[in-house]
Amino acid sequence: MISKSKICSIFAYLLAVFAVVGVIYSLKLVSISIQGHQIDKFIKHAGYYQLSQIESQSEDGSFTAILNWVKGKREKELSSSPVIKDLRVTFKVDANDECQFKVTDVNDSRFHLPENEPYPFTKQRNKERPLKKLSSQPKTFLSILLISKYIEVTTQTKNSMIFGLGDRRTDFLLKSGKYSLWTRDAADIDNGTPGKEIYGFHPMYLRRDIANNQFQVTLFRNYYGMQVDYEQNSHLTYKVIGGNIDFKFFIGDSNPETSIKLYHNYINGWILHPFWSSGFHQCRWGYKNSDMLMDVWNNYNKYEIPFDSLWTDIDYMYKYQDFTIDFERFNITQMQQIYNLSDPRGVHWSSIVDVGIALDSNAAEKGLDMNVFIQSAKTNQSLVGKV
Ligand SMILES: *[C@@H]1O[C@H](CO)[C@@H](O)[C@H](O)[C@H]1NC(C)=O
Ligand SMILES: *[C@@H]1O[C@H](CO)[C@@H](O)[C@H](O)[C@H]1NC(C)=O
Ligand SMILES: *[C@@H]1O[C@H](CO)[C@@H](O)[C@H](O)[C@H]1NC(C)=O
Ligand SMILES: *[C@@H]1O[C@H](CO)[C@@H](O)[C@H](O)[C@H]1NC(C)=O
Repeated sequence: MISKSKICSIFAYLLAVFAVVGVIYSLKLVSISIQGHQIDKFIKHAGYYQLSQIESQSEDGSFTAILNWVKGKREKELSSSPVIKDLRVTFKVDANDECQFKVTDVNDSRFHLPENEPYPFTKQRNKERPLKKLSSQPKTFLSILLISKYIEVTTQTKNSMIFGLGDRRTDFLLKSGKYSLWTRDAADIDNGTPGKEIYGFHPMYLRRDIANNQFQVTLFRNYYGMQVDYEQNSHLTYKVIGGNIDFKFFIGDSNPETSIKLYHNYINGWILHPFWSSGFHQCRWGYKNSDMLMDVWNNYNKYEIPFDSLWTDIDYMYKYQDFTIDFERFNITQMQQIYNLSDPRGVHWSSIVDVGIALDSNAAEKGLDMNVFIQSAKTNQSLVGKV
């Protein structure tokens, strides 16, 4: 066992500029809800984690260590969500401008995102040079708490500008506020007010260090529902309902593209959308047949309004079965005419496909046999929802 005063110096050394201030979590009352789910109304703990063992360390600064929970005076256990007492902390230098900081339970038994294709994973890159000076790193993790149903981690954001935590519909530059990340078919979308959920879930941000104009990308590799409380020029706190603390850092320079490119490479280089998809689109639910589509198409042409794409919502399907067309209502000849790209009037067809599989279908029958569907937590049966 290493003494407490030594903990800090070891961490200051190992983490260079990270300095996990003793990984101390002090007494705090927390009350949050994500998407109407109240999460542990009151979490009332006092205590901290203490370094008990360094398992490995290497010259490049990488290490793994075990931390143990030290019971505080006023600790009050929540039987429904006990503190995770034994943690493994891993700091890994993946390249001179890429590193990872991870905290899991010792047995790594909680859900984590796999680190291989098609998930984001670390590519083999030049490791020869030492890690870049992390001048634009979050200098401090102010506090960390892992209890079985809740994680909280706070990092400092002084003298920096934060962009990201998508999807967002308006400014990239984040204002102070609570940002929920929870994938949702959201009609009531983000209009510049922090807090609203939207389809996409991107727990990453681009940080600009104001003093030296250096950019860096931080990805939080955790895909549970979360709320990020952000206070400009102060701190950023993740409040998460599961998983691990797992940060991946991409350290750039004065050009924001440098760190964005590192991140883009890490997430397997998603392709850019086609140019026409940035054009004018006509879409609605309720095109019941191709006559209606033909009307819309004819009117656009008649009034000489240029457009690039005509969408059909799931009405075009045969009994709402994915990858089918109801040819009785949607005349193939008319469809070919509208979507004929050799014709100057032709437009792209964007056909909406839902992830839900129609109950009344061969696909559903097969899927049930193969037990591939999401199970309801209440019944343990395949989940039946309504679109
Ligand atoms: C970790 O796994 C070991 C061996 O299976 C087990 O004895 C121990 O209780 C586990 N520890 C925790 C904290 O789950
Ligand atoms: C489909 O549309 C074409 C062109 O308008 C028409 O000639 C044909 O009769 C239609 N087919 C059916 C089955 O309605
Ligand atoms: C597509 O448009 C071209 C050029 O106008 C025309 O020659 C061709 O017959 C059209 N094809 C269909 C299937 O409508
Ligand atoms: C669902 O499965 C879990 C784990 O096997 C079990 O604990 C639970 O009682 C089951 N619930 C129902 C409603 O069958």
